[in-house]
Amino acid sequence: MDSFEFNKIAGAVLAALLIIFGGRTFLEIVDKPRKVEVAGYTLPVPKGGPAGAPAAAPAAFDFAKEVQPLLAKASADAGKDSFKKCVSCHTVDKGGKNGTGPNLYGIVDRDIGKYEGFNYSPALKDKGGKWDWAHLAAYLHNPRQAVPGNRMAFPGVSDNAELADLLAYLRTVSDAPVALPN
Ligand code: HEC
Repeated sequence: MDSFEFNKIAGAVLAALLIIFGGRTFLEIVDKPRKVEVAGYTLPVPKGGPAGAPAAAPAAFDFAKEVQPLLAKASADAGKDSFKKCVSCHTVDKGGKNGTGPNLYGIVDRDIGKYEGFNYSPALKDKGGKWDWAHLAAYLHNPRQAVPGNRMAFPGVSDNAELADLLAYLRTVSDAPVALPN
């Protein structure tokens, strides 16, 4: 076998290898997009009703039924502890400065969205009325649902006993604590 013939054979072998491996790689590249999983996850389809039907609205929060009965036994001390969730944005001392949220001194029965020097969202500024027990509880239970469009980035306190404790505490940060509802 002369070197010319050897080169021909070697060339053929190399070509065959190239076709085998190169071809496979090529197929993998072409095939890739079909194998890629979609990022993220599929949103659960609400049960009942055809896909895309709006989920039933969450039941309205009922202060008188769900929290008021717990208030009599609520602990302001436990509420002070729970208020740690709020201190990154709110002060409670008399005349304390506004932070991300307004100072909350005397918040029970205070005018809604009217604290001096705080730049409220229109949703709170124009709401009117006072933070009576029912309004305050509903807002702290689920801020977004209670006052749509308000800017408090806080998910709410879903545990009713904790909410009662928190209200009992907020009541104490005042010159003249408002009477408990009965
Ligand atoms: C991430 C910051 C943040 C946290 C945490 C937070 N708040 Fe707020 N809060 C705000 C902002 C901002 C506003 C004003 C919202 C607006 O103008 O729409 C507000 C408004 C309020 C108001 C209405 C005040 C008024 O003068 O009308 C109350 C009451 C309140 N917060 C209580 C609480 C309590 C109690 C907690 C803890 C359980 C809490 N917030 C946690 C940012 C926060």
